[in-house]
Amino acid sequence: MRKILVIHGPNLNLLGKREVDIYGKVTIEEINEDLKKMAKVKNVSLEIIQSDHEGEIVKAIGSAKGKYDAILINPAAYTHTSVAIRDAISAVDLPAVEVHLSNIYSREEFRHTSLIAPVAKGQICGFGKESYLLGLQAAIGLLKNA
Ligand code: DQA
Repeated sequence: MRKILVIHGPNLNLLGKREVDIYGKVTIEEINEDLKKMAKVKNVSLEIIQSDHEGEIVKAIGSAKGKYDAILINPAAYTHTSVAIRDAISAVDLPAVEVHLSNIYSREEFRHTSLIAPVAKGQICGFGKESYLLGLQAAIGLLKNA
């Protein structure tokens, strides 16, 4: 069975309580449940992690080769700052899909730049929880095309 590594970046464990006007009331558990349901229907297996630590995310990506077939990532604040996560995705050479709950382009200027987007296959943002489900669908599509 094909395996996809799902990575939630910093502060996403606080979803549901955090800036609900921007991110809504959805929790990370609800997102993960819906991702698992879709994975089951599509016959792929998921490993899901959340980390507030850049180095931990870099390590997870760096050791993904051979274990996973694709990466679905919401790098959260590291989207805008992390050359290390970008380089890890480049280095590991697995298809990666970048997702965001909010539309990063309609928010503060500093969120308009994603350091991850150039090394991702594509980016989906602005659809809340649906961004993740669309992202998973895209990642599965990439497996089929592999
Ligand atoms: C986010 C957008 C980022 O700018 C922000 O730092 C986050 C969440 C999103 O999912 O909309 O933590 O990645």
